[in-house]
Amino acid sequence: MALRTVCTSATKFNPHSGIGGVLSKYGSTWANVEMGPPDAILGVTEAFKKDPNPKKMNLGVGAYRDDNNKPYVLSCIKKADKMLLDANLDREYAPISGTPEFCKGSATLAFGEDSPVIKNSLNATTQGISGTGSLRIGAAFLSKYYEKSKTVYLPSPSWGNHTPIFKHSGLDTGSYTYYDPKTCGFNFKGALDDISKIPEGSVILLHACAHNPTGVDPKPEQWKELSQLIKKRKLFPFFDMAYQGFASGDITKDAFALRQFISDGHEVALAQSFAKNMGLYGERAGAFTLVCSSQEEASRTMSQIKILIRPMYSNPPIHGARLVSKVLNTPELRAEWLTEVKGMADRIITMRQRLVDGLKREGSTHDWQHINDQIGMFCFTGLKKDQVEKLIKDFSIYLTKDGRISVAGIASSNVDYLAHAMHQVSK
Ligand SMILES: Cc1ncc(COP(=O)(O)O)c(C=O)c1O
Repeated sequence: MALRTVCTSATKFNPHSGIGGVLSKYGSTWANVEMGPPDAILGVTEAFKKDPNPKKMNLGVGAYRDDNNKPYVLSCIKKADKMLLDANLDREYAPISGTPEFCKGSATLAFGEDSPVIKNSLNATTQGISGTGSLRIGAAFLSKYYEKSKTVYLPSPSWGNHTPIFKHSGLDTGSYTYYDPKTCGFNFKGALDDISKIPEGSVILLHACAHNPTGVDPKPEQWKELSQLIKKRKLFPFFDMAYQGFASGDITKDAFALRQFISDGHEVALAQSFAKNMGLYGERAGAFTLVCSSQEEASRTMSQIKILIRPMYSNPPIHGARLVSKVLNTPELRAEWLTEVKGMADRIITMRQRLVDGLKREGSTHDWQHINDQIGMFCFTGLKKDQVEKLIKDFSIYLTKDGRISVAGIASSNVDYLAHAMHQVSK
């Protein structure tokens, strides 16, 4: 018997009774789906938006703001955009692994032109959906092909999305000591102790620079020791590099850890993002690279990476990748970008100093040096949960409960207000 769909007036959409009301008598398919918790950081922004206080500050959001507290589009990106428009390019699909110039440009930026990885084409590089998507591709690849372990060890704390990304790919996560709440700095000894106990063969995730959420990075000498230990323990390093150039203002300095590991002979995985260093947040431009031991191995792994990507999203978006390629491969634009990324990093470094100066002027006797010592967009202030609550309630200064502030959200016009408020809640 052929199936017939009977459309009675009861099953028709009725805007007055509401579709839920009509369907509920048949039972709802999604009745067991529980309401999930709101995203911790987006929740901060929602509360900020509702606050009528003209002095309010949003220090939760992880996006750069200029000194007028406005989103910033880099001039090199505006010029690249115009060049692309004038070139009247087609909008055909990119290859599964993205545009080759983008992949080559990204890998060269990370490893350096003279790197043996680049010179010998040892990299299997694919475009990813910004940093998050690139990490996700890497996680999928490790889950399927990395046979020694299915556990990724993350620094404690780490970026909030790391655990879900790896778990979503079927991997387990563990953690190793990283941050020292007593000094608001790097717990080097704790990290060494913990890493030396991680089971051989495990994956270890490392923030290449500008650690999020703490702003705490190991020093070059400490990276060297970490590299030796990780080698001795036969761990597989997965670098997350979301801030190259954005930390110190120098793309080479910020790639130190990654390049040190390469010169120590590690085979690494790498996720890159151009969200922060080129201000391309919503364009979702990023890359995933697997460093292999031969060109032949790189093409074999690349073929499997493409097979993993195809059912996920077929091929990546083209516009952000075209912008990045244009900037990296046009000498004038590249030079302008290097100046602009340094400008962003320098503004953040200046705000750190002005906040510390302001706290001193307010009469604070606490040691706030860690604010200067930390690097990148974020600062772990060391403020406790009740102090954070007071900042929000009494001063309309919004931040995450762990005391993390986005230094990029501070401007010349409100850094003194922030210093005053921080002193009031911490004195
Ligand atoms: C450590 C870290 N990794 C990756 C990302 C990925 O960001 P996106 O997906 O926007 O490139 C971020 C962004 O905040 C980050 O802080």
